[in-house]
Amino acid sequence: MSAENTDTRGEARQSFYVKQQMIAAAKTAFQQLSGVIKNATVYPAAHPFLLASADQLLDRIKEFLLSRKEVAFYLVGGELFFETHSVPIDQSLSMLMEQFTARDVGGVIFKPGITCEEIVKFAYLMNKDTAYFTEQGGVAKAIAKEQIVHIDLHRVILVDKKFGAAIKEAKKKSGEIFMDAVETVKEIVDSVHLEKAVNMKRVSAVVHGMVDDILDNRDALMGLTTIKMYDEYTFAHSVNVAVLSISQGSFLSFEKPQIAALGIAGMMHDIGKVNVPLEVINKPDKLTDEEWEQIKRHPIEGALILSDVPAMTRLAMVAAFEHHQHGDIRGYPRMDDRVQQHPFSQIIAISDAYDAIIAARVYYKVTTPPEKAIRIMLSKRGTAFNPVLVKAFVNMIGIYPVGTLLKLDSGEIGIVMHQTRDLMRPRVLLLTKFDGSEKESGKEVSLLEMEGGHYKRTIAGTIDPNGAKVNVKKYLE
Ligand SMILES: [Fe+2]
Ligand SMILES: [Fe+2]
Repeated sequence: MSAENTDTRGEARQSFYVKQQMIAAAKTAFQQLSGVIKNATVYPAAHPFLLASADQLLDRIKEFLLSRKEVAFYLVGGELFFETHSVPIDQSLSMLMEQFTARDVGGVIFKPGITCEEIVKFAYLMNKDTAYFTEQGGVAKAIAKEQIVHIDLHRVILVDKKFGAAIKEAKKKSGEIFMDAVETVKEIVDSVHLEKAVNMKRVSAVVHGMVDDILDNRDALMGLTTIKMYDEYTFAHSVNVAVLSISQGSFLSFEKPQIAALGIAGMMHDIGKVNVPLEVINKPDKLTDEEWEQIKRHPIEGALILSDVPAMTRLAMVAAFEHHQHGDIRGYPRMDDRVQQHPFSQIIAISDAYDAIIAARVYYKVTTPPEKAIRIMLSKRGTAFNPVLVKAFVNMIGIYPVGTLLKLDSGEIGIVMHQTRDLMRPRVLLLTKFDGSEKESGKEVSLLEMEGGHYKRTIAGTIDPNGAKVNVKKYLE
C-alpha cells in the first residue's frame, strides 16, 4: 500500500473519531444544561451548587467555541441534534426536551461572550410555566426581557422547516449512490464472466460513498434496500447486503476503514454465483440434489474468484467463503465445528438472511409484514446468528423499518422515514395523496411527540404497500 493511501485512510479514521467525540461532548453539554435547569428549581441564584454547574457548562461551551462561531442545539420531533448531527439521548434528556418544546423552543444557540450569569438566568427562565411565555409574547421576547444576549432561541416551527429540507436533500443523493452501486456490481459480474480485471478502484470509491452517506444518515440508503430499485434482484441483493452490513458496522461503532471493508465484503459475498448456471439460480421450483450441490459451491467459488483479484481485501474472501456457515446444521460448506465464523461473516450472514426475507416480499410478492421479518430474525438468534449481533441488528432496523406504511391511531396514514430512540415510535411522513408528492411538501412527524402528557400519534397497524397502491419508492429514493 502506498504512503499516500495510508494517509487518506488515517485521515478518514481520524475524522470519524473526531465526529464521534464531538457528538459525545455535545451530549455531555446538553446533560450539563439539564443539570443547571434542574438545580435552578431547588437553589437560589447565588448558591454555589447552581453556580458550579453553570460554570461547568460554560467551560464546555467555551471549548466548543474555540473551533466554531456558535454552539447550536436543535430539537426536532422528540430528537436532539448538535448542529446537523443526531445526538443519542436518554429519558432524562427527553424530559428536558419536552420542557423546551412546550415553550416553543426548537433551538438553543450559545454565542461567544456568554457568561455564567446568563446561563443561570436562562435556567430560571426555562423553569417558568408555558403561560408566562404566552404573556410575554413568545420565547424571543422573554429572553430579551431577561437581558440574555448571548443565547439565541429558535422557534420549533422554523427549526423543523430547516431540518426537513436538510433530510430531503440527503435523500436525493442516496438514490443515486444506490443505483451507482448496482451498476458497479453489474460491471464486476461482467468482468468476472469475461475474465477481465475487476476495477477495484471503482468498487472502493462506490463503497466509500455509501459509507459516508450511511455515517451521515443511516436511514436513507437503508430504506432503499426494502423496495424494488432494480429489475434483477441478484444485483440489487449484493448492494442491499453491502448497505445493511455497512449500517451494522456503523451501528456497532466500528472504525471507518473496517466499515468500508464490511461494505466491500458485502458487495462481493455472492460473486461465486457467477459460476452457478443461471437456470439453477433462478429456478422457482424445488432444486434437485445435484442443483443444490451446485448452489452450495458458490462460497468456495467466490473465495477463489476474489483471491485472484489484486487489491481485494482478505476479509472479502473470508466472508464470501463463510457467509452460509451458519451455526446450525444447514450451514455450508461444512467445516469443523471448532472453527468459528469470522465476526464480519456473521454480520454479512445477518444482512444476507434479512434481505432474502424482504426480497420475498418485494420481488416475489410473498407477503411478510415487516414486524414478521424481525421476528424471524430474532427466532434464529443463538442458532443461525450470533445472538448479540442479531439483537443489535434489530435495534438498528427497528420494529417498523424505514419505508413501512403505517396506519396511525389518529386515522392518518404515514411512511416510516427514520428510527428514533424508541423502536415503536419512528419518524413518519404523513401521506394524503399517495402519489409521492408529499416527499417535497409533506409533513414529517415524530411519534415521540407528546401533547398534554400523551403521545400525539401511535401506530395502529401496518399496511401492505401492494394492496394500498402506494409507490413507496417515490418517497425514499
Ligand atoms: Fe450466498
Ligand atoms: Fe447472498
